[in-house]
Order: sequence, then structure tokens, then C-alpha cells
Amino acid sequence: MTLEFSPEARQRAETIIRRYPPQYKKAAVIPLLHLAQEEWGYISAEAMAYVATLIEAPPVKVAEVATFYPMFNKEPIGKYEIQVCHTLPCALTGCGRIVKHLCEKLNIQVGQTTPDRRFTLKKVECLAACDRGPVMLVNKTLYTNLTLEQVDDILNGLE
Ligand code: FES
Repeated sequence: MTLEFSPEARQRAETIIRRYPPQYKKAAVIPLLHLAQEEWGYISAEAMAYVATLIEAPPVKVAEVATFYPMFNKEPIGKYEIQVCHTLPCALTGCGRIVKHLCEKLNIQVGQTTPDRRFTLKKVECLAACDRGPVMLVNKTLYTNLTLEQVDDILNGLE
């Protein structure tokens, strides 16, 4: 069966595409990839091909965009995606300790997902809260000025 958006996502896709003049519908690629990731959790090769059909672009053009940006997951991730900033200002405030603690606590390495598919751990570039490091993003929630104890509390508070 060919991959397709749900009717609701399809409607949102059409709204996104309508924002652009017909000759520039390819410009909708990034918002459509975000929508695809929201819909399926990650961007498979099949999803890239599907987005390509929506904007009438060669699949390779969509693949180029999807593989360039690290925010697009190319494989399934855990229920909770933990992203720890490791750019210099956060490095100076001890993000390394946070990452090490998370690795030990979750028993995985950076870039891995726990076997129960609850957590995926990533190191990422600046999360735009440089004056409040160390910083981590858990799905869409940003946590700042982190301590190891706060990390434990955050993990314990997740269902
Ligand atoms: S350097 Fe970490 S949020 Fe900007």
C-alpha cells in the first residue's frame, strides 16, 4: 500500500501548498516534511517520495532536503526525543555532564533509542537559550539551567 497522509494531514498539506504560487510549490518542501514527521514520527524514503508527488518535484530533491537537516528523523525514534545542546555556551556550563548522566541513566549512547522505544538521545546545536545552559529539549518542551537532579526529576515525570 502506498503511503498517504490521513485526511486531516492531507487538508493541512493542501493549506501549506496553497501558500505558494503554483510555480513555486516546491518551496513547501520543509513545512511538508515537518507535517510528514508529525504524521509518521520520521521521514522514510517512502514519505520523501510521497512529499515529492505533492509538490511535483523529483524524489531526490526532497531527499536532499530531508537528509540535510538534522531535525528530520530518518528512522523511527522513541516516544521522548531528548536533545541536549552541545554548542560552546552550553558546553561551558556543563552540558557534557548532562549527556553523560543521560547515557548512564538510559543505558544508551548518543544517537540511540532505548530498547523499549521510550527515549532517543541526541546532541544538537544551539537551542536558542544560550544564556540559560545547560539546555535540553524533550519533544517540544525546553528545559534550561539544568542540574543532574532536575534531569532525574524530568525523566521521572514522563509517563
Ligand atoms: S548554546 Fe546551548 S542553547 Fe545556545
